[in-house]
Amino acid sequence: MVKIAPSILAADFTRLGEQIVAVEHGGASYIHVDVMDGHFVPNITIGPFIVQAVRRVTQLPIDCHLMIEDPDKYISEFARAGANMISVHPEATYHLHRTLGYIRQAGCRAGVVLNPATPLTAIEEVISDVDYVLLMSVNPGFGGQQFIMSSLDKLRRLRVLLQLHGSQAQIEIDGGITTDNAAVVVEAGAEILVAGSAIFGTESPAQAIQQMLQSVTEAQLV
Ligand code: DX5
Ligand code: ZN
Repeated sequence: MVKIAPSILAADFTRLGEQIVAVEHGGASYIHVDVMDGHFVPNITIGPFIVQAVRRVTQLPIDCHLMIEDPDKYISEFARAGANMISVHPEATYHLHRTLGYIRQAGCRAGVVLNPATPLTAIEEVISDVDYVLLMSVNPGFGGQQFIMSSLDKLRRLRVLLQLHGSQAQIEIDGGITTDNAAVVVEAGAEILVAGSAIFGTESPAQAIQQMLQSVTEAQLV
């Protein structure tokens, strides 16, 4: 069963609590939080303080996508704030294996994020230490960008790579996901769909989730 992780980057921050409750009722499985530091990516967004606030309004697991340099410094802080899943970019840490260990020690599921230009081989040596792989289908830094088509082939190759290693890691995709392409990314191997503007950019975020889930179900039936 495919899972939707709405990215609050596209939410209305004056009504954040209300919007999170709406997507939870609409069928979201996770809340995706995009943490950006203005160094690793050219944008500054959310820190542990907001994660703490999100924790107070939802029971859903909080999925923290760290687009920050030296993530080791902040892992325990995000875990304490209420994160359940933490993912890091291999380029942002000198010792990826150690960083993944810190995430698990903090009681969270550990993810590795691959940028569009980062090869799949970047995860090969840590596959058994990874609970999920987050494939970027846009260059990280901003919401509302267009899905990079070559991500479909990369998804398929990632699925094969995980199977080859007998890995149970889930595949998450992030960037430019809409109701129109949800079914194809699922067909290519994605299990968790992150979507920001396609959900919070609509009048009814809850309805947008239902439509996205429905588009996947319908495509699977035919
Ligand atoms: C981009 C972030 C994404 C972003 C997705 O750096 O990692 O999670 O919020 O936004 P949309 O769905 O609008 O592409
Ligand atoms: Zn993200």
